[in-house]
Amino acid sequence: ASADAAKGEKVFSKCKACHKVDGNNATGPHLDGVVGRAVDTAEGFNYSGALEAKFDTWTPEHLNTFLTNPKEAAPGTKMTFAGLKKAEDRANVIAYLQSLSQ
Ligand code: HEM
Repeated sequence: ASADAAKGEKVFSKCKACHKVDGNNATGPHLDGVVGRAVDTAEGFNYSGALEAKFDTWTPEHLNTFLTNPKEAAPGTKMTFAGLKKAEDRANVIAYLQSLSQ
């Protein structure tokens, strides 16, 4: 099946404890517009620096790698989230984030 943004919105419930999609930072940086955004550039957010050591721009491919296992993909990140083990969940949440970027 191809990626489904509506299903991805449900997966995003796991992210909502830390991320908003209304332009405001919280525990994590705001994620509206993140697909295609340069890493570590949500204005006013205090990043660890671990993400930009490994990634440049949040392409769907890089998001997939990061979200599989954040601590392994970007050692030292302060995103304390185990990751999304199911490829389908990752594809769907990335489709949801992409739908916000348009
Ligand atoms: C960073 C996605 C869950 C806390 C990020 C970034 C992305 C992302 C794309 C980098 C953004 C940028 O460069 O501006 C997600 C997704 C999640 C999720 C899709 C759910 C599947 C969480 C959770 C927490 C969290 C549950 C809190 C427990 C953070 C923090 C950062 C971050 C603190 C900054 C990391 C650093 O500077 O090292 N997240 N996240 N995230 N996220 Fe998440």
